[in-house]
Amino acid sequence: MFRIRENEIADALTTADLWQIMLKEVPPIAAEYFIGGAGSLNTLKSNVLAFQQVTLAPSGAIKHKKIETKTKIFGQELSVPFFTAPVGSLRTLWPMGDAVVSQVAGEFGTATTLSTLSMTPMEKVAEASSGPKWLQLYLCGGVETAKRGIKRAKDAGFSALVLTIDTAVSGDRIAHARMKPMDAVSSIFSGPRKIARAIHKVKLAPQMIPRTGWLWRHFNDGGMLPFVNVTNERGEPMPYAGIGEQLASSAVTWSDLPWVKEAWGDQPLIVKGVHCAEDALKAEELGATGVIFSNHGGRQLGQAIPSLQIVAEAMPKLHAAGSKLDCAMDGGVRSGLDVLVGLSYGLKAVGLGRVVAGGLGAGGHMGTSRAFELVKEDLIRSMELLGVQNISQIHNQGEKLRRESMVLGTAHLPEFYF
Ligand SMILES: Cc1cc2nc3c(=O)[nH]c(=O)nc-3n(C[C@H](O)[C@H](O)[C@H](O)COP(=O)(O)O)c2cc1C
Repeated sequence: MFRIRENEIADALTTADLWQIMLKEVPPIAAEYFIGGAGSLNTLKSNVLAFQQVTLAPSGAIKHKKIETKTKIFGQELSVPFFTAPVGSLRTLWPMGDAVVSQVAGEFGTATTLSTLSMTPMEKVAEASSGPKWLQLYLCGGVETAKRGIKRAKDAGFSALVLTIDTAVSGDRIAHARMKPMDAVSSIFSGPRKIARAIHKVKLAPQMIPRTGWLWRHFNDGGMLPFVNVTNERGEPMPYAGIGEQLASSAVTWSDLPWVKEAWGDQPLIVKGVHCAEDALKAEELGATGVIFSNHGGRQLGQAIPSLQIVAEAMPKLHAAGSKLDCAMDGGVRSGLDVLVGLSYGLKAVGLGRVVAGGLGAGGHMGTSRAFELVKEDLIRSMELLGVQNISQIHNQGEKLRRESMVLGTAHLPEFYF
């Protein structure tokens, strides 16, 4: 009934183009959650800036017959060295959003990570994908609830568990809070400030009217759904409104790792939200197979170390300590060139968060596929231009591929989009 912006998506040449289409398609009250940087957006912007400031040194007169992008991480083969990072509430961008993302990831031969705070049943997400499925775990609802989720994930065929450790409380996402999202989704017939909430809803009309496609799809898909992958002992899902307080009362500590590992069993256990080598080694000591260096896409601590800097500092230390961890990162990756830069530090793969959200919000399956395609094409082109044929060569040449820039300041860098 409502047309997808097919031509605009096909014409998108960068993931920033897709992000701009997403902002046209999705009303600000819903889109702001995905922009969602903490505090002054300093961490979010530095994540992106850190990649833009890297310079690379190509080797000339090299033409490889075929570029090979496959990698192996957490014991699993991926056709491309990037995977989808867990992003909550994807279903507010597109009907069955998490399943659409997992389907596309499978089509590109790679893994999808489903967020605990998702609104699509994990069984549907698993069914949709022909690739590896990983479940990200928060301990919302407590130990028994988490164990129920872990069992469900094992039964549904998820092959890695990603435990996020950087959410002791939710970050201060000021722009999102100013939009009063809870007032927008709560009923005006009960609770305090009924009139204020009714007025708030009416005031949203101007952003909804030009976005009737989103509105129609959203309500046809069930509107604001509960978090169906977090269920209580009666099988009831956690309501959307419970999220903030649930996160704060269920922060992960190191003492949780042993029982999580035992409940999950022999498959890979990954710790996400690691900011330094010391925490990575601690995770390894407690039985983790791998880590994802991440500052949660700049959504948690304002002024955290940019993700790429975490990697640059931590990887040599892990190497020196003889660590056997498989390492990945996320945060600020916007292109295939960024993927390559991440791999040059010895990472096996990198995660994409907002790039995937931007594609999904721009146009469901088509937009998400275009996002993957743009990153993959840019990776292959960058490998050809650098003179490297496969991921091992990127690992082997490592720091020889990068050079310190002589250009001071940031005036030469592109505008920040997302
Ligand atoms: C809207 C949004 C929701 C997110 N939800 C989760 C989540 O539920 N669990 C989690 O571990 N990380 C979550 N993250 C963090 C991502 O997994 C990832 O660390 C981050 O998006 C990477 O940065 P990027 O967006 O610059 O790629 C979320 C990120 C975004 C943008």
